[in-house]
Amino acid sequence: MSDSSTSPLRAGYVLSIGMQKGGVSKTTNACHLAVALGEAGRRVLLWDVDENYGATKVFQIPPDAFFTTMSILTGDSTAEEAVLSFDDRELDVELPQNVDVIPSSRALQGVDRALSAKDKFYNPNDCLSPAVEELKALGRYDYIIIDTGPQASPTTRSAYMVSDYFVLSLVPEKLAVDSLPDALEDIANARRPGRNPDLHLLGLILSCMDRRVTLAKRYEDAITERFRQANQEPVKFKTTIGRAAAIDRAAHRGQTLLQAEPAHKVSDQYRKLAREVEQRILAHRATLTKSEQRPALAPLPAAAQGVTANA
Ligand SMILES: Nc1ncnc2c1ncn2[C@@H]1O[C@H](COP(=O)(O)OP(=O)(O)OP(=O)(O)O)[C@@H](O)[C@H]1O
Ligand SMILES: [Mg+2]
Repeated sequence: MSDSSTSPLRAGYVLSIGMQKGGVSKTTNACHLAVALGEAGRRVLLWDVDENYGATKVFQIPPDAFFTTMSILTGDSTAEEAVLSFDDRELDVELPQNVDVIPSSRALQGVDRALSAKDKFYNPNDCLSPAVEELKALGRYDYIIIDTGPQASPTTRSAYMVSDYFVLSLVPEKLAVDSLPDALEDIANARRPGRNPDLHLLGLILSCMDRRVTLAKRYEDAITERFRQANQEPVKFKTTIGRAAAIDRAAHRGQTLLQAEPAHKVSDQYRKLAREVEQRILAHRATLTKSEQRPALAPLPAAAQGVTANA
């Protein structure tokens, strides 16, 4: 397989995963999607901007040992310095193939106070922007995947402003499904003029699905039918992620399911989801005018062409 990491400039599409509701698989989806895209040959940066640092915990990265999102925001490090690279042999943490990580930490809770003390014109909605510009300019990543927290924290709000794509995360439970209209409104607000009009809702991942539960199946059907994009396609990705206790077991080993149990049904679902994500991005890029185009995704090495093939 040719070395895809030496391409001169990668697209650096910023894709945030969010939903302002706790425990709806945001972190699990962000980590597994990053790993599935990495497996397929994409170079991915997984960026944890949650003060509860879920993605950092999944890979058992000790937050006190490294620069974190908070270090970047306070200027203690550049974004590049805070990147933990999967191919850094000296790193005492095992990261998945092609997936670099910027960890987070509890200290992020104090970001508002720290930044407003430093700069009286501090705008929380913009706190991630300089780092995103820096990371895109590196030209190193096909995707920068941001895992947001459940609160409307400065980093969550800023994620709406800096993202090209937003992916919603949901589980088939009443309280989660009830929060979907608010989540769609948050995206509509973020798209207002002067904010981030180019933000594109890429899709919704329905996860933790147990089809033996009739109510869960009913939620799946209702979400598919009711929430549609402008072209009438369902917002929900076709691939639904099943419930798998093996996900938690893998996290105990500092891994995603794709690494721990590559043949697991749910690992395959994440690979399928990664293909859908890429297909939707390619379809969206095709609708943009020339002046709106940024670098396109690099062609994949032949061995990994599957990522753009039909699911
Ligand atoms: N498909 C799944 N099958 C089984 N367990 C899952 C699945 N997806 C997520 N979980 C588990 O559900 C719990 C919550 O998931 P996760 O941390 O990804 O949610 P979250 O939305 O990021 O939460 P928070 O809002 O606290 O950041 C975790 O223990 C995770 O391991
Ligand atoms: Mg989380």
